[in-house]
Amino acid sequence: MRRTIRGLLATAAAVLLVTAPACGGDGDKDTTSADNSQVEVFSWWTGPGEEEGLNAMIELFKKENPGVEFTNAAVAGGAGTQAQQVLDTRLQSNNPPDSFQAHAGQELASYIRDGKVEDLTFLYDREGWRDKFNKGLMERITVDNKIYSVPVNIHRSNLLWYLPATLSKAGIAAPPKNWTEFLTQARALQNANVTPLSVGPAWAQIHLMENVLLGELGVAKYNQLWDGSLDWKSPDVIAALNVFKQVMAVSDVKSAAADWQPALDKVVDGTAAYNVMGDWANAYLSQTKELAYQEAYNVSPTPGSDGVYNFLSDSFTLPVDAPHRGAAEKWLLVAGSVAGQDAFNPLKGSVPARLDIDKSKYTGYLATALADWQNPSTTVVGSFAHGAVANKAWKSEVETAYGLYAQDWNTEKFAAAVSASYQSVGK
Ligand code: GAL
Repeated sequence: MRRTIRGLLATAAAVLLVTAPACGGDGDKDTTSADNSQVEVFSWWTGPGEEEGLNAMIELFKKENPGVEFTNAAVAGGAGTQAQQVLDTRLQSNNPPDSFQAHAGQELASYIRDGKVEDLTFLYDREGWRDKFNKGLMERITVDNKIYSVPVNIHRSNLLWYLPATLSKAGIAAPPKNWTEFLTQARALQNANVTPLSVGPAWAQIHLMENVLLGELGVAKYNQLWDGSLDWKSPDVIAALNVFKQVMAVSDVKSAAADWQPALDKVVDGTAAYNVMGDWANAYLSQTKELAYQEAYNVSPTPGSDGVYNFLSDSFTLPVDAPHRGAAEKWLLVAGSVAGQDAFNPLKGSVPARLDIDKSKYTGYLATALADWQNPSTTVVGSFAHGAVANKAWKSEVETAYGLYAQDWNTEKFAAAVSASYQSVGK
């Protein structure tokens, strides 16, 4: 039924709107629908600290496009673990939303390789956007000189969140500078009856793992983990993974929270001292929990990663066969605009992907994030857990291997599985 209606719409649109750009796809697919009547936008921003930013962008869209019906197709669950499964099913059955969220980098590259998203170069040229976005980021959304998505933000993954009051109670003056110091602090915290570290579900544990690897291995070797030039079975990686294992041993993994917000709640209520999470945590702590930055809560780079920005970026795409392509373009215009980025990011806990934004809107933690992101001496690396450095197939294999690791903590076995899966699907 859906295809029939879409087919009719496509025919009408093709007749009425001869200016609709022709796109890729096979002959039997509708790639010409310029339908402007409605738009369905797919993301995983539903919970507190996530949905406020999306809602602000939706409000702006509605104001600028009063005649377009907006469907928010967000699927709950941090890091998009559930959403991406739903999305993959929809894409496989040729039932795409009009625009979906994808991480810049290797995750987007997987969608491009699978022929699921359209080339958006025409939009960048038409809007004069080519020099408006961060240059390194542009490279991560460009394949064969074609630009495939509209990035809305830059998030930082390597952050350690805490309450100064909880540290004081255990006699700790400052957050740890390296993971060895963290393990020393962990003993003091346990003596004070405080869980040293709260963790969330598997994706959040993998997020923690990448940052322990970053801190222990350093930038050069961290980067080599993702391009095959450092074997996961090598002694350095095994040693770093064993530090991760010790870190997990002093966490609350046995009663891990179901998502990132309840993991942070344990820090907020003082039962846990630290949580490693991206800076969407700032949105939650400052807005949802109404805590004062640097007074009630504070943040530092994860141990051993000072001066490094472990980045990820959310971007929106135009799927091949988007049923309401005309309205999808309008959504992308809002997402890529200064107004859209300045409405979204201050509420999302991220800094904008565009360069020409209004800096005064970024205060508190976000002012320091913006300064760090723009500081030429900051080293930028990409997040594994959030799609920057590994394709979807390899990431999924690592997640499966991690599920087993979290049961037996056999580091050599886990490293061997990750290494083998890189050889089969990671390249
Ligand atoms: C990331 C996403 C962020 C944030 C986070 C937690 O993958 O890029 O914007 O939503 O997950 O859900």
